[in-house]
Amino acid sequence: MCGIVGYIGNREAYPVLMKGLHRLEYRGYDSAGVALINTNGQLNVYKAKGKVAELEAFVTDKDVSGSIGIAHTRWATHGEPNQVNAHPHYSESEQLAIIHNGIIENYAVLKEGLMKHGYNFRSTTDTEVLIQLIEYTKHTSQVDLPTAVQLALNQVVGAYAIAVLDRQNPNMIVAARKGSPLVVGVGEGEFFLASDATPIVEYTNKVIYVGDEEVVVLERGKEPSITTITNVKKTPEIQKLELTLNQLEKGGYPHFMLKEIFEQPQTLRTSMKGRVNVDANNIALSGFIDNRERFLNAKRIIITACGTSWHAGLIAMYAIEEFARIPVEVEYSSEFRYRKPVIHKDDVVIAISQSGETADTLAAIQLAKEAGAFIFSICNVVGASIPRISDSGCYTHVGPEIGVASTKAFTAQVTALTMLALCIGREKGTIAKEQYLRILKELDNIPEKISKIFHQNDRIADFAKIFTYAQNFIYLGRGYNHPVALEGALKLKEISYIHAEGYPAAEMKHGPIALISQEMPVVVIAPNCGTYEKIVSNIQEIKAREGKVIAIVTEGDTIVSNMSNFCITVPETEECLTPLLTVIPLQLLAYHIAVAKDRDVDQPRNLAKSVTVE
Ligand code: M6R
Repeated sequence: MCGIVGYIGNREAYPVLMKGLHRLEYRGYDSAGVALINTNGQLNVYKAKGKVAELEAFVTDKDVSGSIGIAHTRWATHGEPNQVNAHPHYSESEQLAIIHNGIIENYAVLKEGLMKHGYNFRSTTDTEVLIQLIEYTKHTSQVDLPTAVQLALNQVVGAYAIAVLDRQNPNMIVAARKGSPLVVGVGEGEFFLASDATPIVEYTNKVIYVGDEEVVVLERGKEPSITTITNVKKTPEIQKLELTLNQLEKGGYPHFMLKEIFEQPQTLRTSMKGRVNVDANNIALSGFIDNRERFLNAKRIIITACGTSWHAGLIAMYAIEEFARIPVEVEYSSEFRYRKPVIHKDDVVIAISQSGETADTLAAIQLAKEAGAFIFSICNVVGASIPRISDSGCYTHVGPEIGVASTKAFTAQVTALTMLALCIGREKGTIAKEQYLRILKELDNIPEKISKIFHQNDRIADFAKIFTYAQNFIYLGRGYNHPVALEGALKLKEISYIHAEGYPAAEMKHGPIALISQEMPVVVIAPNCGTYEKIVSNIQEIKAREGKVIAIVTEGDTIVSNMSNFCITVPETEECLTPLLTVIPLQLLAYHIAVAKDRDVDQPRNLAKSVTVE
């Protein structure tokens, strides 16, 4: 979490940095700050608690001149979110300033050592320890800034993407990364750096993805230079950025989340393009084709992910076991990495991550890789850490997802995983040809069917207002739609701050039914498939206890729709694809309840889009 941005060139740095911070605000927004070196050689640092707008208000009467600078938007880990703990942090002498995304795990030991050498600390952050260490190293070893950064980072345990300014050298930014993302933009006589490419895209499409434990020096009039922290020289690999400015704007929608919900027909078409071929009756996933034997010989598939991506993994478990007949285990990355799991060489481990940077998922696949398993990742952000360390994978290609609540990434993950399940099943001969072809054709119809659901958006917005009173919600689903119930509940709680729980519908009577009263809205996902009859009985149990039922049913349904207080329909589809449709009304419901409660939909409290800390 945290967003970092830097600029060195001929322009005024401040406007570039502020625009960049706004783009990166999804990564954290509890405080922000900027450091600039002006033409008089002064290193000015300004910081404010709150969002980037608070920082802009704070600096209105300050000197923000200079063509070199760094800036930061924070999601607090060490130290409360206040002005002192905001980045950039000065060194003791105020000659150096640093911004940092990540965690210095051994900061306490390092701090103790520095205090013995007379260093004082203004903040309670781990980051200030690092800049003091860099300054201490620079002085005691009598080395230049890049070398001091290298030497200091050799003493650090943890994750970092950093950028450092030195007031004595207004022509250089030194940056480095390990575990946290860092991209350098290469323009004409200017350089940009940022946590992702969004602050860079409008200036240049030439980027360098900085590797783990690499230090990059950006100096006016010179080519970027990269070394490892152990001083091994690297050749910078300039890549072309596949991102457009349009993708980063709201395009007339009030929130990114709503834009991203409505983008899903198009994003799913893009995800399936070149992969689902109805005319050729074929699904082609290159990551599968190139590693066919690994999948076909797998005795077990382990899926590891967090949050919404974990829910997509649960849906994949149903699909892979049904079509490919390979046992699947779905693991929370944060548990998997610490619980000494048994991993075999012939296991396939699938990591799912929109950002490709989630720290726990990254650590989980590192563990699995060390144990010899084959790592396949499903990610959205091209070039992120998880796809880079995976053996193979499949990008979802939905474009930047900016709303903190994941929507279009989820449907694309489910689509990619369903394609994978079908590919394995087809090759293994564990799915009948007719069924494979039916699902393949139906996958192609899903975008249009999602568009049809949007016709009910105004009605959903109207009845969402009724539920702003609720303190709690229950979401129920069965089979493929049990994970959708979990996902619907997560969407509601993260953006509306209403407590919500998802359950397999039949689990109700083992406890949660005690919660049902007139006050309790119960969202029941009841499309026309396998367990429909059973879910009808579950609804009857809720009605008998006067719960308010909001049902998601298939078009033409009469039984559940007559039993429910509110009903949203989705078009008929194959059972394994129902999650791609049933999740849409739940995304809209959560969105409209949050808007009716006047919540900060795109940047809900305490959250960040990319969770790069444990
Ligand atoms: O980038 P990732 O998919 O790895 O992120 C995982 C979770 O942090 C993420 O899905 C989170 O749960 C979303 N905010 C949910 O909407």
